Amino acid sequence: MAKPESGMKITAVAVRIPARASVEPCTSVLCAQLFTHRFYNWPFIRTWNKFLYGGFILKFILGLIIGILILPICGYFYFRFGYAPVATAAAPMPFEKKMASMALRARIRAEAPKSSPIQADEPNLTAGAKTYVVNCAFCHGLPNLPSTAASKGMFPVPPQLFNPDDMVTDDPVGTIYWKVDNGIRMTGMPSFNKSLSTTEMWQVSLLLNKADKLPDSAKAALNPTVAAPAKK
Ligand code: HEC
Repeated sequence: MAKPESGMKITAVAVRIPARASVEPCTSVLCAQLFTHRFYNWPFIRTWNKFLYGGFILKFILGLIIGILILPICGYFYFRFGYAPVATAAAPMPFEKKMASMALRARIRAEAPKSSPIQADEPNLTAGAKTYVVNCAFCHGLPNLPSTAASKGMFPVPPQLFNPDDMVTDDPVGTIYWKVDNGIRMTGMPSFNKSLSTTEMWQVSLLLNKADKLPDSAKAALNPTVAAPAKK
């Protein structure tokens, strides 16, 4: 370009910016599909291309990091701003029941004993009934009686284990035992391994496993009018 002489007024400068080497016409299939080379040099397309294909690795890593962080961040805000249900009367968290029972099933499948070391005979079932009345009836109810006030207000509501709809007679006895032994976290179902002996836990598990076909002595032990100590 000629050097402007003194007194000469520059009114306009036309500069042609050469296409940068990094924005070569694309050869990849994806690129060719999105942008034909015909439009390649249009200013807007060039910027877009640069954004799409320039520093790809850097953007990929950045995206990956954001992707990894976004879930925990959303989770934090969910709890931080009080969206997570904390009252027993509140609706369950999204997928709460599904996730919790999935985790529980997986754990039980791996850890529950396969069979009971003691027999489901009358003495064991009757002993189980006595353990049940003292330790479990408060939450899980007794045959032919309405559920207790406390159990109605729990979340989740404890199943009424002598109500035919809630009985666990289809569960393997080892599964019942696992629950009595370990408890179920954040449900109110306690673990009894510090307060009951192994035999007592098996007896009460057998009782629930056979809840629909109990001998009369076990039924009597579950009946508060018979089981309660005589009043003076
Ligand atoms: C403080 C209340 C409470 C007491 C006491 C209690 N449980 Fe539970 N139990 C629960 C709750 C709540 C659940 C429901 C857990 C769930 O939904 O996952 C439960 C669940 C269970 C289950 C699983 C039922 C099913 O449908 O799969 C069994 C079996 C069980 N309890 C046995 C017992 C036995 C046996 C005792 C006494 C030794 C006992 N529980 C004492 C609250 C209690």
